[in-house]
Amino acid sequence: MSILIKNGVLVTAEEMAEKDILLEGEKIIAVKDEFLSGEIPEKTKIIDADGNYILPGIIDAHTHYFMKSPPNNVTADDFYSGSISAAFGGVTTFIDYAEQQKGHSIIEAFINRLEEAKGNAAIDYSFHQSVCSLYHDIKEDLKELKDGGVNSLKLFTTYKEDGSMLDKEDWLELLKMSRDLKLLVTVHAEDDEMIDQIKIKYKDREEFPPYYHTLLRPPEVEYSAIKEIGDMAKLLDMPIYIAHLSSKKGYRALKEIKKSGGKIFAETTPHYLLLTEDLLKKEDAQKYFMTPPLRNKEDNEALWEALKDKYISVIDTDHCSYTTEQKFLSSNCLGILAGIPGSETLLPLVYSYGVGRGYFNVKNMVNLLSTNPAKIFGLYPEKGSLGVGTDADLVIFDPKKEIIISDSGQHTAAGYTPFSGFKVKGYPITTILRGKIIVNNNRFYGERGGGKFLKGKESALY
Ligand code: URP
Ligand code: ZN
Repeated sequence: MSILIKNGVLVTAEEMAEKDILLEGEKIIAVKDEFLSGEIPEKTKIIDADGNYILPGIIDAHTHYFMKSPPNNVTADDFYSGSISAAFGGVTTFIDYAEQQKGHSIIEAFINRLEEAKGNAAIDYSFHQSVCSLYHDIKEDLKELKDGGVNSLKLFTTYKEDGSMLDKEDWLELLKMSRDLKLLVTVHAEDDEMIDQIKIKYKDREEFPPYYHTLLRPPEVEYSAIKEIGDMAKLLDMPIYIAHLSSKKGYRALKEIKKSGGKIFAETTPHYLLLTEDLLKKEDAQKYFMTPPLRNKEDNEALWEALKDKYISVIDTDHCSYTTEQKFLSSNCLGILAGIPGSETLLPLVYSYGVGRGYFNVKNMVNLLSTNPAKIFGLYPEKGSLGVGTDADLVIFDPKKEIIISDSGQHTAAGYTPFSGFKVKGYPITTILRGKIIVNNNRFYGERGGGKFLKGKESALY
């Protein structure tokens, strides 16, 4: 099946030009100013893009679909509903997590995760591997994972209580092994010891309303962890990637490391750019509860500036959705299920509030949402580009379409969005995954299991 998209404005990280694009099977086979009728294969479906933008498929490089939260919760979005929701937002690839369990190998975690996604995800996917404990032959397993297509790890500097954090004395060892194997270490950076110290201050409190989340995990905690892990990576002369940078102080730490010669990179998310901590004082505070917590307007602004100045390489979402029933199970900040939905609103929010307010142009946006994550996580050029011979993952994006984001307009199984009420100008109307239209005019045409696992290559940061 061939598709010719005419009259669109192709936008890549490098250029923006009126061009036609021809897809055949799963690939882009030609890009030209105009195709003559003799050059178009028979039975080609012609799409008139009507002056809209044609973007490479968006990559949400930080998701938690079908994530189990012991003892007995699981996220609202599984791989199918999460990827449908993402597809409505122009996302054609997500990168989720295979989480090692204490006492078990990373290979076991990876194989389980592959099984869970296979036959369910409706868009393409890859995995980061989280590491919470080292064991004697882990280096061989890391090598095996790399051969299997996993090129990035996740290190938690917090969550000691639930077992996600790698013991501090093992950080250096993990970093050294990662450097040897050229695996990119991504870091959830919050200083757990500092958090414990702060908790002592409140030891006599019985109630911890949601807002206490911001007091227990203030920006200083992010600053400290970024400095510590950033310095360690600098010492080893290796790249390090900070997940969901949330604060002005965290950004300061990143700049300090970078200016002193460290190879430090970061992502942020729309919620740290657009939402503020006062939401945690509202009656429905749980709907805005994630870790790290929301900050204030000054932090939002600092992160926009960081994007403008290219200190942040990726915007993704940390999509980790729960229904309001699940969120309201607790009103104690130590017990509320952390995480919010985000994949579907990523592109329209970044376009409207990033490009729309002049922080960066559309080409830079493509870099932040598609090309950079593809390069950093080893998926380029098959993903993240519109090059001839690459995967035909595209979004037709109407820059004039105005929408007020609403709970009912979303497709996440969470049933709500923390961005309800946000006005956006610019919305994806068609999503194409490897040459197949999976969303068009607010209808889903994809299929359960239509997504495939992508074997990543070495990160471009090495
Ligand atoms: O609150 C969040 N971010 N939940 C997802 C798990 C994590 O910490 O990344
Ligand atoms: Zn996360």
